[in-house]
Amino acid sequence: MDFIDLVNKRYSVRAYKSDPVEKVKLLKVLEAARLAPTANNRQPFQIIVIHTKRKKAKLLSIFQREWFVQPPIVICVCGNKDIAWVRNDGRSYLEVDSAIVMDYITLAATDLGLGTCFIAAFDAVNARKVLSLPDEVEPILFTPLGYPDDLPGIKKRKMLKELVRYEHW
Ligand SMILES: Cc1cc2nc3c(=O)[nH]c(=O)nc-3n(C[C@H](O)[C@H](O)[C@H](O)COP(=O)(O)O)c2cc1C
Repeated sequence: MDFIDLVNKRYSVRAYKSDPVEKVKLLKVLEAARLAPTANNRQPFQIIVIHTKRKKAKLLSIFQREWFVQPPIVICVCGNKDIAWVRNDGRSYLEVDSAIVMDYITLAATDLGLGTCFIAAFDAVNARKVLSLPDEVEPILFTPLGYPDDLPGIKKRKMLKELVRYEHW
């Protein structure tokens, strides 16, 4: 698929079928994540693949939306604070790296006909507990992964002129 078509096709899916996700598709999605760039190539991320079957109650303690547990898989992208690259003014790029990884996951999934939705508004305390994360590992983003059971809406975006400034020195 043409890259711009792919970017247009991705949307936040908030209704999923329970149909299984083929193993080969999951592996392609994870391979895309593996190839994501990270600051200083530190690769400070961990990807947790959760099969939703029999785990719905625990998952719902992390994010209370029925659609979160409709598909067969939920993915969590975590970042390890001890591994992330830190700029000399103290700014850690852990969240940037993790967001890029999730972006690769969502775009690869879209290319394979799968749906995803970035989720940041989860309960981090419960996520830590349910996933048994050590202190240095931060849960950054979740997404469901499965076949969409809804249709994309119209993309609401600002105009380029509101977002871009051309600097003329
Ligand atoms: C970093 C990030 C965090 C997000 N967190 C949530 C969330 O917690 N819950 C949710 O329903 N959508 C979440 N979204 C989805 C956005 O609301 C969505 O991407 C935006 O409205 C644009 O719509 P689209 O993804 O369909 O193009 C998040 C998106 C991003 C990029």
